[in-house]
Amino acid sequence: MADHTRRYSSKIVDGPTKAPGRSMLRAVGFTDEDFKKPQIGIASTWAMVTPCNMHIDKLAEEARVGADEAGGKGVVFNTITISDGIANGFEGMKYSLVSREVIADSIETVAGCEAFDGLVTIGGCDKNMPGCLIAMARLNRPSVFVYGGTIQPGKNHTDIISVFEAVGQHAKGDIDLVQLEEVERNAIPGPGSCGGMYTANTMASAIEALGMSMPGSSAQDAVSEQKMADCRNASAAVMKLLENDIKPSDIMTRKAFENAITVIITLGGSTNGVLHLLAMANAMGVDLSIDDFTEIGKRVPLLADLRPSGHYMMSELVAIGGIQPLMKRLLDAGLLHGDCLTVTGKTLAENLADVEDYPADQQIIRSLDNPIKADSHLRILRGNLAPEGAVAKITGKEGEQFTGVAKVYDSEPESYQAILNGDVVAGDVVVIRYEGPKGGPGMQEMLSPTSAIMGRGLGDDVALMTDGRFSGGSHGFVVGHVSPEAADGGPIALVQNGDRITIDAITNQISLHLDEAELERRRAEWKAPEPRYKRGVLAKYAKLVGSASEGAVTDA
Ligand code: FES
Repeated sequence: MADHTRRYSSKIVDGPTKAPGRSMLRAVGFTDEDFKKPQIGIASTWAMVTPCNMHIDKLAEEARVGADEAGGKGVVFNTITISDGIANGFEGMKYSLVSREVIADSIETVAGCEAFDGLVTIGGCDKNMPGCLIAMARLNRPSVFVYGGTIQPGKNHTDIISVFEAVGQHAKGDIDLVQLEEVERNAIPGPGSCGGMYTANTMASAIEALGMSMPGSSAQDAVSEQKMADCRNASAAVMKLLENDIKPSDIMTRKAFENAITVIITLGGSTNGVLHLLAMANAMGVDLSIDDFTEIGKRVPLLADLRPSGHYMMSELVAIGGIQPLMKRLLDAGLLHGDCLTVTGKTLAENLADVEDYPADQQIIRSLDNPIKADSHLRILRGNLAPEGAVAKITGKEGEQFTGVAKVYDSEPESYQAILNGDVVAGDVVVIRYEGPKGGPGMQEMLSPTSAIMGRGLGDDVALMTDGRFSGGSHGFVVGHVSPEAADGGPIALVQNGDRITIDAITNQISLHLDEAELERRRAEWKAPEPRYKRGVLAKYAKLVGSASEGAVTDA
């Protein structure tokens, strides 16, 4: 009987006709014995372009050793990564969401071509994590994801968002250049993902709740013995998944996605979680829609006092036990599906059986009967401005309704400069459009404008809506993913300066106060813009990408 643990690699190393392939592999260290072992591809997102991934080469090597010790043959390969923290606020940010597809495509390409039997993927930044999961879903071979781990706080409890907001404070004149430089020099002390419940930590938590990473692994410091052990354990787990023929399709089920959504709501996770979970579900063929976030959000409270809207950092959550005690509480309250299979080969409930509760004096995770907000902060809004939906992050601190006057910008840089110049004032709804998946292209993040609004002290007095998206670090009264996007002639394209807009997070409506006749008149005058890029990856992406309300995927 054929050995199912070598379902793929046997095709490239077995028999006389495969001598050329074996010959190549001998040169990279394969022995005669290695050809009889399952091959575990280890996808590393190592790069020195950003602190989130600067240590991942060491994690990948640890995972390789773990695969070999567990009886497999680990083979490390690379994919790319980019850093939103560096690219935010200039044209390069258009490549950010594109990189999710490049990463998924590249892992699929290497694993498909090199016939790996199983996979460990290691990511530590916003886009490379869903990129890894999309690839694992498409390949559907036994796989485990390893999170690169969180960064330590900078001096005075700072992080990357502190630097963005310091830029706004400087523009307002509240701090001088020396003070700005002090924040800049001290906020990022070393390796690891941005330190709040921003997109990286949101996705790490979602992936653990989904069952695709080892229990406890989403809340570990980047540089720690726990993280190194996680890498070895992940490889050993892949070998067990291979033996038992457990694939991502057995784990990434509809119920598992519901668990992931539940956990990121309780943690106050990023709006990007909506986009990425939809894309991951699409890759797995799971029926998940933007409205599922609304349904689940009605019964799930916000419990974590974590940045950006709260106080604490991920490393402080690590110190009190991470997200496992939270998941145990949610399971006990009937808010998680305990019967979902995970990469341990056990169910979620079995993984959580012996988890102890948080220390009694901790301040980070509220109890279920004392939530920060009784229902989800992730709101799916609809209305005449977003017939296909929009995503808002409303923790309640901003209020739940905002009516203001539109101030319209046709690109992110235009809006950023206007905010820094003081052109945006209390009572404005800043509309940033032609930044959607197709129009940007790449749906760039609005961290610079939202940080500038915060820095100028307008966080409670200005709302912002866009067909682009937000950094996990953005906070304030902000609505993104407005669909259909402006480049597709969505209603956001018809807004003019001075129009009145209401954003209502209670009724989940986003409304332009114009009658249908006036909207029709403007629609008749609207002309589709020329694509901003005619060649290269941005042009290809703009041709392929779908709506943000379906995850902005390129292969639907
Ligand atoms: Fe990589 Fe924030 S820029 S995690």
